[in-house]
Amino acid sequence: MCGIIGYVGKKPSSEVLLEGLKRLEYRGYDSAGICVDSPEGFKIIKSTGKLKNLLAIVPPRPFGHNGIGHTRWATHGGVTESNAHPHTDCSGKIAIVHNGIIENYEKLRELLKDKGHSLKSDTDTEVIAHLIEQCYKGDLTKAVLETVSLLKGTYGLVVMHQDHPDMMVGARNGSPLIMGVGDGEMFLASDASAIISYTKQVIYLQDGEIVTVTPESFQTMDLDENIINKDIDIIEWQAESFEKAGYDHYMLKEIYEQSESIVRGMKGRLDRTHATGHLGGLNMTTEELLKVERVVIIAAGTSYHAGLVAAYLLESMAGIPAHAEIASELRYRNPIIEKNTLYFAISQSGETMDTLYAMRELQRKGARVLGICNVVGSTIARESDGGVYIHSGPEIAVASTKAFTSQMTAMYIFTLIMARLRNMSFEDGLEFIDEMEAVPEKLKTIFKSAPKIEAIAKKYCHTESFLFLGRGINYPVAMEGALKLKEISYIHAEGFSAAEIKHGPIALINEKTPSLFLVTDDRLHDKIISNMKEVKSRGGKIIAVAAEGDKDVYGIADDVIEVPKTVEYIYPFLMSIPLQLLAYYSALELGRDVDQPKNLAKSVTVE
Ligand code: AGP
Repeated sequence: MCGIIGYVGKKPSSEVLLEGLKRLEYRGYDSAGICVDSPEGFKIIKSTGKLKNLLAIVPPRPFGHNGIGHTRWATHGGVTESNAHPHTDCSGKIAIVHNGIIENYEKLRELLKDKGHSLKSDTDTEVIAHLIEQCYKGDLTKAVLETVSLLKGTYGLVVMHQDHPDMMVGARNGSPLIMGVGDGEMFLASDASAIISYTKQVIYLQDGEIVTVTPESFQTMDLDENIINKDIDIIEWQAESFEKAGYDHYMLKEIYEQSESIVRGMKGRLDRTHATGHLGGLNMTTEELLKVERVVIIAAGTSYHAGLVAAYLLESMAGIPAHAEIASELRYRNPIIEKNTLYFAISQSGETMDTLYAMRELQRKGARVLGICNVVGSTIARESDGGVYIHSGPEIAVASTKAFTSQMTAMYIFTLIMARLRNMSFEDGLEFIDEMEAVPEKLKTIFKSAPKIEAIAKKYCHTESFLFLGRGINYPVAMEGALKLKEISYIHAEGFSAAEIKHGPIALINEKTPSLFLVTDDRLHDKIISNMKEVKSRGGKIIAVAAEGDKDVYGIADDVIEVPKTVEYIYPFLMSIPLQLLAYYSALELGRDVDQPKNLAKSVTVE
C-alpha cells in the first residue's frame, strides 16, 4: 500500500523525505516521488520503479525545509511518472500525497474540467489537488476541510501550499496517518517506521480528523471544525528493530527472530500459580468469559491461517465451538450474530481493510470483537472492543512469518484462559505452559536444519506447482506453507488436508510436482503415512517434515526435515519454521525480491 511522509522543520527536508520513503518501501510500491519547497517554488521529483531510481535523480545536496514524499501502489492509473505522487493543482502551488481510493473521483474530475481545470494524470489523487485549488480562499485548512466533504472513499492525505511555507495539512479517513512530534519539527506519515529515527512521540489520527501542522505547533479538528485535543503516545518499538541487523533480508531476520518474538508474546501472560494465562486487554470479566459459547475469528491471508489454528485449539482444548472465516467473505455474507458469541479480528498491521470493515459490520450488528494486532495504535486495535497486542516487533517483510507464530501465541494464551475456566485441570494447565515455554528452544534446534532446507529448496523450486498437506491442527499450517511459497517465489502452491488428496488433487501427482507432508507423531500419524503412500505409488516426489526419530517416513519420502518431538497442539509452531525457510530459499534461488514480492503490499488498505 502507498506510503506517505511529510516534514516541516529545520532539517533539510529532502533528506528526511528520502529516508522516510526508504523505511516505507516495505509497504509495497511501484513508483515514488517528493515535493520540496524552495525559493523558486516547489521542486517535484518523481520516478517509476524502485526508490533507487528516484535517489538517482534527486540533487545529492539535501535541500528544502518542508516537503512531502510518497511511494505509490497503483490503484487508479498505470505505473507512470505522471501518475506518481505528489500531485499538484493547475497553479502548481498546491501539492498533495494520498493513500486510499476516492470512489467518486470520475464525477469530480468532470466537474473540475467544466470549471476549466486541466488534469495531467489518470489518478484519483490529482482530483483532490484541484478541488483544494477550487476551494482555496487563503486558508489552506479550510480548503482541505471543504474538499474532503466532497470526497467519497478513503484517504490519508498530506497537503502543502507554496503561500504557506512551513505548514502542512493532513487528513485521515480509512487510510492510516500518524503525526510525529519533534523538537521544532513535525512529521506526518503512514506508519511509525518512517519517523522513528527522529521521534518516538506520536499522535494517531482517527478517521474524520484534520490536522494543521507547523514546526512548533499542531491543531487537530473534526470535519465540523471542532478542535480535538489529542494525547501524545510513545512508540514502543526501537529504531534499530527496523534494521536488517546483518541479515540479507528482513524475512530471514524475522524468521530467526521467532525464538525471541514468541517469548515477548508470552511475557507476563502465563501464570504458573493458577496454571492459566492473563491477557489484560480483553476487557472482559470472568463472568463474561464464562458466558462465551462460541468463538468466530475473522482475518485475511496468513492471519486467517493463524485463526484456523486457534479455532482447532479452542475446540480441542477449551471445548468451545470455534471457527475462522475470511473477513471479506463474512462481511458480505450478512452474518447472523448469535448471542454469547465472541469474535476476534486478527491482523498484523491492524489496517487490513477487509478485516476492518468486517469488524465494523459485526460491531454494527452488536457483536463484541477483540483485536489481535501487532501495530500499536492501528485502526483495528483502536476500534476493537478490546484485544491483545502480539508484541512481535515490526514485521517489515511482506511475507508474514513472526507475526503468524505471535498471533498463535496470543490465541494459545486465550485458549488456556478459557480452558482453565472450564474443564482443564491444574496439571494440564501447567503442562500447557511448559510446552509453550519450551517452544523457543525447539525453534533454535530447527534453525540448525537451515542448510538442509536450503538444499531441498534448491532441489525442488524449479517446478510449476507444489502441494502442501497436513491434517488436524496442521492443516492450516499446510495452507500457510503454500501461501508463503507462492507469495515470494511465485510458484503455484496449494495447501489442503492430507486426506483430501484422494478426493481429486491426487490427479495432479507426477514426478515434477513435489508434495510436502507435515507428519506428526500423534494419533493421525498412520493416516498421514497412508496418504504419503498414495502419492508415492503414483510416482510423486515427497518431502516430509516429521518429528525427529520417525522411521516410517524415511522409507517413503524423498527428503525429510526433522523437527523436535512435542505434543500435538505445539506442532504448528515447529512445522511453520521449515515451511518459512523453504519459501525463503526457493525465492532466493529463483532470484525473487524476497522482502517486496511483485504486486504485493504489506498492509492491504483497499478492498
Ligand atoms: C502474508 O504473508 C501476506 N502478506 C498477507 O496474506 C497478510 O497476511 C494479509 O494481507 C493480512 O494482513 P494483516 O495481518 O496485516 O491483516
